[in-house]
Amino acid sequence: MDRLQCVLLLLCFQNCCRLLQTLEQAALRFVVLGDWGGIPVPPYYTPHEEAVAAEVDSLARTEGVDFVLSLGDHFYFNGVKNVEDLRFKHTFERVFSQPSLLHIPWYLIGGNHDHRGNISAQMAYSNISHRWNYPGLYYDLQFKVPHTNVSVSILMIDTVVLCGNTYDQTQPSGPENSRTADRQWDWIRSKLASSRSDYVLVAGHYPVWSIGHHGPTSCLVNRLRPLLKKYRATVYLSGHDHNLQFIREDDGSSYVVSGSGIVSDPASSHRDSVPLAWQLYSSAVNHTIGGVAYFQVTERHMTVSFMQIDGKCVYQAALLSRTASRDTV
Ligand SMILES: *[C@@H]1O[C@H](CO)[C@@H](O)[C@H](O)[C@H]1NC(C)=O
Ligand SMILES: *[C@@H]1O[C@H](CO)[C@@H](O)[C@H](O)[C@H]1NC(C)=O
Ligand SMILES: *[C@@H]1O[C@H](CO)[C@@H](O)[C@H](O)[C@H]1NC(C)=O
Ligand SMILES: *[C@@H]1O[C@H](CO)[C@@H](O)[C@H](O)[C@H]1NC(C)=O
Repeated sequence: MDRLQCVLLLLCFQNCCRLLQTLEQAALRFVVLGDWGGIPVPPYYTPHEEAVAAEVDSLARTEGVDFVLSLGDHFYFNGVKNVEDLRFKHTFERVFSQPSLLHIPWYLIGGNHDHRGNISAQMAYSNISHRWNYPGLYYDLQFKVPHTNVSVSILMIDTVVLCGNTYDQTQPSGPENSRTADRQWDWIRSKLASSRSDYVLVAGHYPVWSIGHHGPTSCLVNRLRPLLKKYRATVYLSGHDHNLQFIREDDGSSYVVSGSGIVSDPASSHRDSVPLAWQLYSSAVNHTIGGVAYFQVTERHMTVSFMQIDGKCVYQAALLSRTASRDTV
């Protein structure tokens, strides 16, 4: 076999295809995970969070993980007080502590519980932990699939600034500062409009669509969803509801919820708030135990695999590049 030839062998079982790649097969691989923020009393983590960390470790050792996207609610219930807060150690460092994870960068954005505490302290922690990257409330990331020209951009957005905090209601109550929110909306629009990347992912804490306890976020359904469609974003990623979901609209716009970091919530109380035909997978309805969303991008394919904490891949979907989706429309 030509050493430089990229070979992709697909071994399919159940709903999933394991990507078996030769060493030459270049891929970008990452985990998307939200809501892993432990509990505010000792031991400051949950058994489910530990199991999620073990699953990320297993992916890192077997398939490879280039980075983790962390979609908010890092510290229940009230974020951290300052950069010295011991929760960084107890809820993050000591749980995601496997040797394979120590050099994998995390890119973070805030959730409603993070915003109840000192969000600047979470950003300042970027200077203390070499794997914790939280450079601003919102920011973008650019990657290339190694040895190819395939480009992936990820907009990390702060949906709590955009839509408001929830406290104990299911829907956010409107932005605290509408000028700050509008500045971020303008940034999102201009980034999406100018991006020429093959794949553009947008990631925030609150979901656009969800069938779980909180349900769809009307602020995002009204203002973000039209932008995702207009600029052909590849997928929107979120947490907030503590489950795994894959939702795809008739026009192909896709939504991943990956918020089962602390617990796997069986609630599906908003099943009627999302058209049934769009609900392709959810850990709540399909009675599976939650875990993480795992992305693999090669020169030709992007896939998302829903990996349970027992290592089983329970659902997998292909995501089309923006050029491919333009060709088929
Ligand atoms: C937030 O954390 C930063 C970094 O530790 C600290 O300088 C600041 O005083 C904290 N703010 C409040 C309101 O405690
Ligand atoms: C990190 O440290 C540098 C230099 O001390 C400082 O300028 C910067 O503001 C710090 N970053 C954060 C996020 O606190
Ligand atoms: C990437 O694009 C450049 C410029 O068009 C081209 O020279 C190069 O061969 C491409 N590389 C790959 C791996 O496709
Ligand atoms: C999830 O459950 C629904 C309803 O029972 C079923 O139609 C669907 O095939 C299941 N999907 C997966 C991926 O197991």
